[in-house]
Amino acid sequence: PVTRSFIDHLPKAELHLHIEGTLEPDLKLKLAQRNHIDIGQTTIEEVQQTYRFNDLASFLAVYYPAMNVLQTEQDFYDLAMDYLQRAASNHVRHVEIFFDPQAHTSRGIPFKTVITGLHRATVDARALNVDAALIMCFLRDFSKESARQTLEEALPYKDWIVGIGLDSDEHNNPPLKFARQYEDAQAAGLHITAHCDIDQKDSIEHIRQALELMGVERIDHGTNIVEDPDLVAYAAKQGIGLTCCPLSNSLVSPHMKGEEIVELMGKGVKVCVNSDDPAYFSGYINDNYEALASQYQLTQEQVAQLARNSFEVSWISRQQKDLYL
Ligand code: ADE
Ligand code: ZN
Repeated sequence: PVTRSFIDHLPKAELHLHIEGTLEPDLKLKLAQRNHIDIGQTTIEEVQQTYRFNDLASFLAVYYPAMNVLQTEQDFYDLAMDYLQRAASNHVRHVEIFFDPQAHTSRGIPFKTVITGLHRATVDARALNVDAALIMCFLRDFSKESARQTLEEALPYKDWIVGIGLDSDEHNNPPLKFARQYEDAQAAGLHITAHCDIDQKDSIEHIRQALELMGVERIDHGTNIVEDPDLVAYAAKQGIGLTCCPLSNSLVSPHMKGEEIVELMGKGVKVCVNSDDPAYFSGYINDNYEALASQYQLTQEQVAQLARNSFEVSWISRQQKDLYL
């Protein structure tokens, strides 16, 4: 059996973490007060009562309005620093943090405000022994023109960004919608990944597009790949990373997808464990490892393999990986 202490002490990388999803109820209330914004709740319990969702759409309907409390550079810094402190205490040594600029620019917050605050936190995280990078996501339910404009705004800051991702409402928003923006981002030297959320209408087609047509290096979630043995073989051969999020899975669907995660690991696919939106999905990364390990009786060796995979599919140099592994 795997103990919590074993999990706590394991060095790990976190590769699927939305910074906006780390907004804890106490910080939400503090920022609402600081920025004079009425969010409709005044206690932590009241905020938590709004966290009722059973699928991706109902989660996103709670998630986006809450971001209104994020207004200043300092707000974005505080948000990221709170997470990075938790990451340090979870023994996360490297993190690649998703952020959604369009969720902020669409409500009048300048791109520069967002990225400057987040970047300053990644610099200060070095003092916590956490190496932090940023992945900019396009909102897939926004237009490709909006993604193009966002990429243009981001390019002056490209040294602060390690890669590009794709998130938000997947329904009728396939990866290929953003093929051109992904090409442009890659040409600018950025890594690429994309969400293929669990149990979507076109999960397999979206995974196929992302892998075979767009050449992404990782898929975020992506466990539905088990339904297609050819794609599984391709992912194993190409060293594709799947960034799985057990607690998130169990909150937006009836399944944690543990059997799929174990099966994929057995087939040589580089799956890893992450927290997605920990303030909403009731747990940080070690809680995710623990939930998966206890519910599916993982061995210590399997848990250690998941942590090794997280470094292997991260976007750090080979040399840096060898330091962690
Ligand atoms: N935004 C934040 N978390 C997400 C997820 N799991 N899927 C899609 N969009 C998201
Ligand atoms: Zn996600």
